[in-house]
Amino acid sequence: TVQQGNKVDSHTVLYGVIGDPIRHSKSPLMMNRAFKETGINGIYTAFHIVPDQLANFIGGVRAMGIRGVNVTIPHKLDVMQHLDHIDDSALAIGAVNTIVNDNGRLTGYNTDGIGYVRSLKEEVESDLAGKRVLIFGAGGAARGIIYGLIQEKVGPIAVANRTAERAVQLAGDFSSRADVYAGEWDKLPELCADADLIINTTSVGMYPHTDGIPAEAAWLREGAIASDLIYNPLETRFLQEARGRGCRVHGGLGMFIYQGAFAFEYWTGTPAPVSAMRSCVLEALG
Ligand code: ATR
Repeated sequence: TVQQGNKVDSHTVLYGVIGDPIRHSKSPLMMNRAFKETGINGIYTAFHIVPDQLANFIGGVRAMGIRGVNVTIPHKLDVMQHLDHIDDSALAIGAVNTIVNDNGRLTGYNTDGIGYVRSLKEEVESDLAGKRVLIFGAGGAARGIIYGLIQEKVGPIAVANRTAERAVQLAGDFSSRADVYAGEWDKLPELCADADLIINTTSVGMYPHTDGIPAEAAWLREGAIASDLIYNPLETRFLQEARGRGCRVHGGLGMFIYQGAFAFEYWTGTPAPVSAMRSCVLEALG
């Protein structure tokens, strides 16, 4: 639905998000609020694109001159082969979450990592240089975050994953850029005690399984930063217990807002109205 106040006329520029499933996405609400707030004549919708329609969809982007697309599960990897250029962020991460269409030339970016870092710096700690990092999980989200953290010149990054081979693979993929290594899942207490910044990128603790916890808060050092990419609930059990332990905590909502804010800025060249976007998503989450 078009948000009240977004004028649609023959100059309106099209944007959207693709995924399968997609109807749960909060991106259309957030982005249309951003267009409304900045007075930009754009409209952003959700496209349910099944995998075998991906190539046709990209043809449609070119044909219709859709200016910007966000990409989510399951298309973040497969979409890359259809684009004209892949930015370093997306190359290093191995996934695209944002497409910019410049008069038919499609470039793929990944704003997850810079979105994460921007939110962490704004909400919790502005100086990440030298910080020792521990990451739970070795999926696409972990890759984005590692890319963002490397730009901030953090210290060593340990990756601990239930399936050890994925952590080894991921660490190998980044080892030429920074000190990234696979930590052992059964040495989590020691890994936690060593870390200044502990980040959960797994789905453990996500609604409706909110009892789940990726690590015991008792293993964390007081004053360390506990960070969770989950934003439903806004504060996971992991963060609640870490807070009780004397850690600084960082939830996942900021990353979601800022990955969208960076996409908005790439498309429009206009600073994103971040606080309006945040209140819009908070409202939608209830
Ligand atoms: P994303 O792109 O969001 O990172 P993903 O590639 O599916 O999604 O990765 C999900 C991560 O959560 C993986 O690291 C996964 O561990 P495995 O590689 O062992 O599957 C992790 N994960 C999911 N459920 C988990 C659980 N119950 N316990 C521990 N790790 C879990």
